[in-house]
Amino acid sequence: MNIIITGGAGFIGSALVRFLVQQENTTVLNIDKLTYAGNLSSLQDVADAPNYRFMQTDICNAAALRQAFTDFQPDLVMHLAAESNVDRSINAPAAFIQTNIVGTYTLLETARSYYETLNGEKKQRFRFHHISTDEVFGSLDANGSFTETSPYRPRSPYSASKAGSDHLVKAWFHTYGVPVVITNCSNNYGPYQFPEKLIPLLILNALEHKPLPMYGKGDNVRDWLYVEDHVRAIVLAAAQGKVGETYTIGGRCEKTNLEVAEAVCSVLDEKRRRKHGSYRDLITFVADRPGHDQRYAIDPVRIETELGWKAEVDFETGIVRTVDWYLENETWWKPIREQKYSGERLGAYQK
Ligand code: NAD
Ligand code: TYD
Repeated sequence: MNIIITGGAGFIGSALVRFLVQQENTTVLNIDKLTYAGNLSSLQDVADAPNYRFMQTDICNAAALRQAFTDFQPDLVMHLAAESNVDRSINAPAAFIQTNIVGTYTLLETARSYYETLNGEKKQRFRFHHISTDEVFGSLDANGSFTETSPYRPRSPYSASKAGSDHLVKAWFHTYGVPVVITNCSNNYGPYQFPEKLIPLLILNALEHKPLPMYGKGDNVRDWLYVEDHVRAIVLAAAQGKVGETYTIGGRCEKTNLEVAEAVCSVLDEKRRRKHGSYRDLITFVADRPGHDQRYAIDPVRIETELGWKAEVDFETGIVRTVDWYLENETWWKPIREQKYSGERLGAYQK
């Protein structure tokens, strides 16, 4: 089985590559542009594996993609490459439109031309799996949860660009018959996450005794899923999901941002005690994110019942593992904090 993974040097993509390279009869080609969010040191464990290849390419580069498909002859494409940070999308939306919409279009066109050259069993087997987010469904109030039939109501440049990419993928299925599967997942956390996202930002700021910023009242709710649970879900959806269908993925684990911050502080208080007081003393309320979605929650009943997937790592276990990983892997995050992003506020746009 030959699998192209786009965005394999990112947070979720690298977890997926590390998982798939260990599987038998699997060869992985990782296509990644290596933006600020891409990091080959997340792939050190697999870099020399005989069934792993890397190609530094922008998914907007049609000629390079065509060559890669012709040479590698994939059975499966798992598309994760994206600009993925809401706050950056507020400051600079252009890259989101380019990569998430134009890039997905370019990849779809490449996959369509390639698919048309296939026949027999190879053609039957081929899948294009688009990895997306629950944010395309917009913001919930206190009640209800997103399902596969929730209407699209994106509200940030990031979520609007991901919604655009989902629509393109569906159009390429209905119009051209490209055999697609789509998954929309809730917030992931775990090792190797770029420290612009809430959980690693909290951990690293705390270790440097810097403020732990809570946007608004800290009462926005996210539905957290440990990244390895997401990886198992997408591997299953790619293998067994129905063509043309969507699966929503989530951990049944809703927490306010303040609860998340307090959980991180509790683990750190135990593992790396401060001289005075608790890490909680660093929690600081700051101006809210413009257009801040109040609540996300996924009802994962379809993937649970039809494909037999279930989140296995609960938040209490996952957050300890994650904090431990950052404590033990300063060599991974130190260069990022020093050279790429040191934790300053992003996306604080004044309306
Ligand atoms: P990430 O930002 O950590 O990684 C993105 C990767 O894509 C990076 O390696 C980057 O170099 C690469 N990339 C960006 N632009 C590219 C381009 N033009 N061409 C080729 N490569 C490019 O993102 P992530 O958190 O790992 O998310 C991966 C995917 O999963 C995204 O599509 C995201 O929308 C989706 N998703 C993420 C979450 C989450 O909580 N992180 C939840 C649900 C869905
Ligand atoms: P984030 O990790 O950016 O993911 P998303 O916006 O895609 O859900 O943010 C998660 C939540 O945490 C979101 O409600 C915004 C909030 N947040 C803070 O309160 N402080 C911060 O410093 C960051 C980065 C996020």
